[in-house]
Order: sequence, then structure tokens, then C-alpha cells
Amino acid sequence: MTSPADRKQQQREAFHADDPTDGPLTTDQGVEVDHTDDSLAVGERGPTLMEDFHFREKLTHFDHERIPERVVHARGAGAYGFFEPYESCAEFTRAAFLQDPSVRTPVFVRFSTVQGPRGSADTVRDVRGFATKFYTSEGNYDLVGNNFPVFFIQDGIKFPDFVHAVKPEPHNDIPTGASAHDSLWDFVSLQPETLHAIMWLMSDRGIPRSYRMMQGFGVHTFRFVNADGKGTFVKFHWKPKLGVHSLVWDEAQECQGRDPDFNRRDLWDAIEAGEFPEWELGVQLVPEEDEFAFDFDLLDATKIIPEEQVPVRPIGRMVLDRNPENYFAETEQVAFHTANVVPGIDFTNDPLLQARNFSYLDTQLTRLGGPNFAQLPVNRPIAPVRTNQRDGQHQSAIHSGTNHFPNSLGCGCPAHAGTDGSAYAHYAERVDGAKIRRRSESFKDHHSQAAMFWNSMADWEKQHIVEAFRFELGKVDARTVRVRTVEELGKVDPELASQVARGIGVPEPARNESIAHKLVSPALSLESLRGGGS
Ligand code: HEM
Repeated sequence: MTSPADRKQQQREAFHADDPTDGPLTTDQGVEVDHTDDSLAVGERGPTLMEDFHFREKLTHFDHERIPERVVHARGAGAYGFFEPYESCAEFTRAAFLQDPSVRTPVFVRFSTVQGPRGSADTVRDVRGFATKFYTSEGNYDLVGNNFPVFFIQDGIKFPDFVHAVKPEPHNDIPTGASAHDSLWDFVSLQPETLHAIMWLMSDRGIPRSYRMMQGFGVHTFRFVNADGKGTFVKFHWKPKLGVHSLVWDEAQECQGRDPDFNRRDLWDAIEAGEFPEWELGVQLVPEEDEFAFDFDLLDATKIIPEEQVPVRPIGRMVLDRNPENYFAETEQVAFHTANVVPGIDFTNDPLLQARNFSYLDTQLTRLGGPNFAQLPVNRPIAPVRTNQRDGQHQSAIHSGTNHFPNSLGCGCPAHAGTDGSAYAHYAERVDGAKIRRRSESFKDHHSQAAMFWNSMADWEKQHIVEAFRFELGKVDARTVRVRTVEELGKVDPELASQVARGIGVPEPARNESIAHKLVSPALSLESLRGGGS
């Protein structure tokens, strides 16, 4: 029997272009051409002729080779591989790819930086994307995560403001590469919910040594649903077999100059050399009855669930063992979407996740030119696709028959919708409430977990964080922004704030000993943040 991993490979092979070495050069229409170096002209020194269709076609195609880069995560590197569960997870989820340890599910993973454009350097201080597409027997499941377990904002409505602040300044498009500029720090100091993720960003986690040595996190609380319809909250963790390793700042900067492709080259070379990177998938599971058992809200993407409270349970492993054949066709055109879920995996009402569930498909309609990009080889499921969706730009399937539903004509259209038990059924969560723009009280605590992160660091790690803040904030022109940011840091930890203040020439904030980090017990040692490496 063909394994699912082989099925994906066979599917890709079916899309291969005709072998270019198999005969002479042709046009897109298959007409042989004998000359591609000199355009057709009148005489030796005369004007070029429009009638030279090969010349026109060649230039026209070239003129349209670029597509819009991703609005964020533009720079990335990808690879194929497989996932296999250690044992059945049927107790918690009916997802088919999490049932049988003997079944390998093909995957495509894209790692990325967030802020820089497609041609920027790899080793900048930034969050890294860690997006995985599982080509399961029940359709595609995308786990679109990052290498930090928390995000900068709590509600997706702020995402455009956040990204505008992160990107180069609008008037001169400077800077690229480094995250230090006034707009980012203005945003951070005015939106302290960013602070926990900012602590991660200023730590060594913001400059990973290798994509192979990074953790990945789904960030949001998702929901597993088992065959009986019982839900369990779940957070996803990828743990690299090689452990977690970072560059130090000087190395990161030197790499930017010497080899801007440092991380993507490392991934490519390792796979070519047969040193296949591997991650363990772990889950933190929270029974529905315990939804309110924490002093933070599970729907708040700026908070982790400390592993001392809910341990990570390993459920499977992923190996990347094949480089893509064509960067554009595969790594550039891959389209991840948080709403690509399979039966057994569902959402929660995390307002950041809900916004993402809108945003990815929406942006891909522009980036990939219309509604048919799921037909591209890298995006195509190995599960059968039977829809009534038709036509549109870049339609490459030839559908036959009618395309309405319900349909008694029986030609070309699915005869019936899926049945209970195999079809996706949205989790029947009970929701009751007024239309408001307010969140639970704990959403307002922006400092406790940032402090917990700081307190979990070794002295040398703290030193790196202080130096990173000094470097980044030291470049901020607006003194008010520097002062305000340091004041916010004072609410995380007075010593951190003082050390940063001394390095950037602003007053040390007054120590307010009454600041209590209410939400998380300071006794937690935060083993969770160590991530299996150093
Ligand atoms: C890429 C939106 C938060 C991880 C993108 C893209 C958009 C976007 C528009 C470009 C997609 C494309 O062109 O194909 C948003 C919005 C967010 C949000 C609106 C918040 C409301 C997050 C969070 C994470 C994340 C919290 C991590 C947990 C990623 C990754 C990619 C990405 C990994 C790159 C996917 C790839 O490799 O193609 N996001 N994002 N995003 N986002 Fe988000």
C-alpha cells in the first residue's frame, strides 16, 4: 500500500514541468525556436520587430515573475517531511493523523522571519515563524506557529497597528533588518500587553542559531474534540531534538554581513547531508472543567500555561527529510491558514486566533492571485477534493457537470454532504453574552508573566537582555519613548529598568515596591521556558 508520505511525493511529481533536457527550446505554446539571443530586427542596425513572438513572450513572462511578498513573514525557508504519533490520542481527539503510530503523515514546514522583506538577512533579532502543513487523510491541517509561546497583542484588531509599528518607517522605509526604531518602541510603551513577547524578543530566543534548534508553539489555546464530542483545551509545542541554541548578538550581526542566508543555508545543507532535523510534538491539555482554574485567561495569547501547572505531554515526532525542488513553486506559494483544521481540532474564542482565521485566506487571495491556490502542488491535499467551487483566476481543474447543491441531476456534483462521524462538525460550545468590547480582568495584567520570564533567566541571560534593550532603545530618537519604555520595564523588574536606563541616558524610574505580580506564583521555576536545550 502506498504510504501517505509517498502519495504526496507522487502528487508533486505529477505536476513536474516537461523535461527541459528532452529536446530543443520551445515557446509556451510548444513551438520550437532556434534562437533566443538576438531579437528579430530590420537589417543589422534596424528597429526590433513586434512580430517576434518569442522575444515578446520571453520578456512578458519575465515582467510578471514576481508576486506580492507576504505582508509579514516574507522571508522563509521550507522543507518536506513526515509526522508520526507515538500512540493513539483518541482519548482527546478524533483527528485521524493522531491515531495510529504506524501511519506517517506528510508535512511541509516553512520557517520565517517576520519583519524583514523577502531579501533581508536571516539572523536579525525577530520572532521566527514555524508553520506546518499536515497533509492528512482527512484534509490539510495547518499549525501556524512561532518560536515564542506568546504573542505581542491580545486582539487581532490591533494587528495592523502592531505591524505598521514594526515595519520600517513610512517616510523613508528605514530601517530594515533591525527592530530598533521609534515606531515600534512607541507602540510597545503605549501598549504594555506587548511586554511579555518583547522580553522573549530581547532575549537570546530572538536570534536563533538554526531553524533546526528552535522550539515552535501554536501560541493560542486550541481545542481537541474526541469521537464522543468531548472537548479538551490544548496548547501545541514543538521541541527540537538538537536542543534550543541561539547566536550571541555579535555573531548574529557578523552573519548578516558574511552570510545573510545563514539559517536557510543551514537547513538546506543539513537535509542534503542526510542530517534530518527532528522535533517532538507535545501538548498541554486542560480539561474543560478547568477552564477557569488559572489566574490568567486561556484565551489570552500573551500568557503561557506554566509547565509546572500543566506538563507538556509528548505525542509524536516530525522529521524533515526532503528539500523542495523549486523555491517559488513550493516555499513561496505555500499558503498556511489557521482555519485549515481537520475533524478533532477546533478553535477557542481567543480574539487573536479569531482574527487570524479571517486574515490568512483574505491576504492569500491577493498574494496568490485569486481563489484557486489550493490547487497548487504544495497546497493540494492528498485527501480527495469535491466541491462546487468553480472558475476563478488560475483555475487548472477541468470540472464537468452541474455545480449546484442540492442536486438531483447526479452529474458532476457531490451527491450528499458528509455524514456524522466523518465530516467536520464545529464544536457546539455554548455562548451567551452581550456584544461588548471588553475582556476578562486578567487580560489587563501585562507584567506578571513578563516578570516571570525575567526571573527565570540566568545572570548571563539577563545580561544579554539588558544589552539588547540598550542596543535597541539606544537607537530611538524620541526621548519620551525611551523614558516611557523604561518606566514600563520598571513594572516588570526595577533592576532591569535601572540597568537599561543607565545604558541609554534616561533617568532610572522611581522604584515602586508595591508592584505585585499577582497572577503567577513567583515560586515557579519556569522549567517550561528552558525548552530542552541551552
Ligand atoms: C503569516 C496575519 C498573528 C504566525 C501571516 C500573514 C498574515 C498574517 C496576513 C501572511 C500570510 C500569507 O501571505 O500567506 C496575522 C494576523 C495575526 C497574526 C492578522 C493576529 C491577529 C500570528 C501569530 C502567529 C503567526 C500569533 C504565531 C502563533 C504566522 C506565520 C506566518 C504568518 C508562521 C508565515 C506563514 C508562512 O510561512 O507562509 N500572518 N498573523 N501570526 N503568521 Fe500571522
